[in-house]
Amino acid sequence: MYAVEMQGITKQFGNVLANNNVHFCLEKQEIHALLGENGAGKTTLMRILYGLYRADASEIFIDGQKVEVNSPKQAIQAGVGMVTQHFTLVPTLTVAENIVLGYHNKATVSKNEIEASVKEASEKYGIHVDPASLVRQLSVGERQRVEILKALYRNARILIMDEPTAVLVPQEVDVLFESLLRLVKSGLSVIFISHKLNEVMAVCDRITVLRDGRVTGTVRKEDTTQQQLANMMVGRETFGINRQGTRDTGQVIYSVKDLSVINPQGLKVLKEVTFDVHAGEILGVAGVSGNGQSELTEVLTGLLKPTSGSVTLDGKDLTHAEPAEISNAGVGRTPEDRHEGSIGDLTVAENLALEELDKFTHNGMLDNARILENAKKYIAEFQIKASPNDRLRTLSGGNMQKVILARALCRRPRVVIASQPTRGLDVGATEYVRKKLLSERDRGAGVLLLSEDLDEILSLSDRIAVIYEGCIRGIIPAAEATAEKLGLMMAGAC
Ligand SMILES: Nc1ncnc2c1ncn2[C@@H]1O[C@H](COP(=O)(O)OP(=O)(O)OP(=O)(O)O)[C@@H](O)[C@H]1O
Ligand SMILES: [Mg+2]
Repeated sequence: MYAVEMQGITKQFGNVLANNNVHFCLEKQEIHALLGENGAGKTTLMRILYGLYRADASEIFIDGQKVEVNSPKQAIQAGVGMVTQHFTLVPTLTVAENIVLGYHNKATVSKNEIEASVKEASEKYGIHVDPASLVRQLSVGERQRVEILKALYRNARILIMDEPTAVLVPQEVDVLFESLLRLVKSGLSVIFISHKLNEVMAVCDRITVLRDGRVTGTVRKEDTTQQQLANMMVGRETFGINRQGTRDTGQVIYSVKDLSVINPQGLKVLKEVTFDVHAGEILGVAGVSGNGQSELTEVLTGLLKPTSGSVTLDGKDLTHAEPAEISNAGVGRTPEDRHEGSIGDLTVAENLALEELDKFTHNGMLDNARILENAKKYIAEFQIKASPNDRLRTLSGGNMQKVILARALCRRPRVVIASQPTRGLDVGATEYVRKKLLSERDRGAGVLLLSEDLDEILSLSDRIAVIYEGCIRGIIPAAEATAEKLGLMMAGAC
C-alpha cells in the first residue's frame, strides 16, 4: 500500500496541458524527488494533491483510501502538509502562534499553553525553533523549520516540499536533510522538488521525472545517474559549459571605489568595497548570503544610496544616480528576486517593453503592434515557453526568469549585474543563462556575477572576489581558485 497514489491526473490551463494523465506513487517512509524542467508541471501536481487546484481528472488514494481533496483543509485532514517557497507565516506573530493559528477550536488558549505544546512538538520531532520568537526576526532557514513543524503539528504523515533548498545556504541544506532523514525513519513520507541533481542523489530514495506534463519515468536512486536524469528531463545527456582558459580582457570600464553603506539601523553593511570590472570579463562575487550582496546590488542599481565612495562607468560618475539614469547609462541588471522588477498582472509583452516605454510610444500612444513584435523576437531568442499575451504570473519560475533576463540584455548593456541568475532554474535553463552571460562577456560587456553557487562562480568567472561581512576579502584569478580556498575565504577564515 502506498502513502499516496495519484492516478490519471490531468490539468489544463487555457491551452497549456500542465499535467497530462500523470501517475505518481509515494511509498511509505521514502523521500521521493519530483524532477523536471521549468514548466514541466511539478508544482501543479503538488497543488492538486494539497487541494489548491482542482484537476480536470484525477483519482487520489492516501494510505489506500480514495480521497477527495478540494481544499488544503481536506488535504491536512487526510494527513498531507505542504511547505511552499513563499512562506505563509504571519511575520508579526510568534512562532508558537503561527504554528497553532487556526488549528485549535477551543475558544481561548493561553500563550503559555501554546508555547508549551509547540515546545513539546519541537522536541518530539527534533525540529529546533524557539516558540516565543517573532517570525519576522527569523532567518529564511528558521522560517522554513517553522513551516515544517506547523505541518507536523497538524499530524502530517506526508510532507510536500516545493524547492525547499532554493532559499537555503549550504549549511542550512545539511540541517534540513538531517531532519528529513530522521523524520522519515519515524514514519513520515516526503515529496521533494528540486532542480539540483546532486541534492536529489544525496537524499532521495526514488525519483519521478516530468516532462511537458507527462511522467517520463520513476527510478530508484541506485539505478540511475545524474546524466540519465538530465536526459529524462530534457532528452539529452550532455550539460555543462566549456570556458576557454585565460583571456585577454579589455580596459577597466566599471569602477567601484571605497563604497560604504550604513543601513537605517546604523549598521555598516558595506565597508569600503573596491573593485574594477574590465570589458570582456566576468568578475564573480562569491559569498554566503547575507554578507552584503543584496546591499551591493541595490547601491549599484540606484535603489540604495551609499554613505561614501564612488561608482563610475566609462568615467561617468553614477554614485548617486537614480535607477533609470543608471540603466540608461548602460548598466543592465537581473534582480535576485524575480518577482521584483516584474509585474505579474501585466503580459509578457508588456513586461518586456517596460523599461523602454518611450521606444514603444508614438504620439503619446503605446504602439501595441511593436510591443508584440518585440515580444515575439525575445520569446524566440530566449526560448521562453509562453505567448506574448500571457500574464507574467502564470509563467513557471524559470520562464519568468528568462523574461527578466531578456529585458536586461536586449539593450546591450556595457555592464551586466547578475544576482543569483540561475536560482530556481532547471539544468537546461541554467546552462542557457550561463551561456548567455558568457556571450555577453564575449561581445565585450563587463559582467558582475553575484552567486551563492560556488560551481557557478568557478565555471564562469575570470576573476573572483569574496565578500564577507560587507567587505571584499580578496580578489583572485579564477585559475588560482578552488572550492576549498573560496570556502575558507567565505567563512572569513583567511
Ligand atoms: N494558475 C495558472 N494559470 C495558468 N497557467 C498556469 C498556472 N499555474 C501553472 N500554469 C502553467 O502550467 C505549466 C506548469 O507549471 P508548473 O508551475 O507546474 O511548473 P513547474 O514544473 O513547477 O516549474 P518550475 O520548475 O519553473 O517551478 C506552466 O506552463 C505554467 O505556465
Ligand atoms: Mg514549480
